[in-house]
Amino acid sequence: MSKKVIVISSSPRIGGNSDTLCDEFVRGALDGDNAVVKYNLEEIRFHACKACMKCKTPEMKCFQEDGLAEVLDKMMEADVIVYATPIYYYSMCGTLKRFFDRCYPIFNHLEDKEYYIITSAGSSNGNALIGIRDFISFSKNPTEKAVFTVIGDAKSQPELLKEVYEAGFDC
Ligand SMILES: Cc1cc2nc3c(=O)[nH]c(=O)nc-3n(C[C@H](O)[C@H](O)[C@H](O)COP(=O)(O)O)c2cc1C
Repeated sequence: MSKKVIVISSSPRIGGNSDTLCDEFVRGALDGDNAVVKYNLEEIRFHACKACMKCKTPEMKCFQEDGLAEVLDKMMEADVIVYATPIYYYSMCGTLKRFFDRCYPIFNHLEDKEYYIITSAGSSNGNALIGIRDFISFSKNPTEKAVFTVIGDAKSQPELLKEVYEAGFDC
């Protein structure tokens, strides 16, 4: 069955390690006849959450008009959500955290989504998955399908690339 897939890549290094895995997932998902959108947060200028609570209305919209509204709409529509981050100080990177904060209008309205997590690190994820999983756990009935971690250069790891491609294909 064709699914709606959204891939959110948060590394500043477009074409870097986590982003390369994102692209493999996208390639697989497209070959598997799914509808796929990918966003590089690096390419979207967006502000931090202001904690104003103005999004806590039935419209679930942030008052800040800075390019994230489309991403949040696509997340609500999606069947499959992929979050990708480089590991910084054993945590998700600041860009992904800032994005999660801006998901305040929808974080607990996301429902029945399947999740994939992609991380890239020099040596280890540390405890980074905890924060990402905590965010996912606020959604309704989430299913974690897989975590893919690349240590070092992604492009020189064909087996991992194949695994991620196949996950996208079969998603
Ligand atoms: C600010 C910063 C902090 C980092 N902290 C860690 C870390 O705690 N653990 C680790 O294994 N690698 C760490 N790294 C290395 C990156 O995770 C690694 O280079 C990764 O492959 C980058 O992924 P990307 O190509 O997807 O951006 C850090 C890199 C930067 C720039």
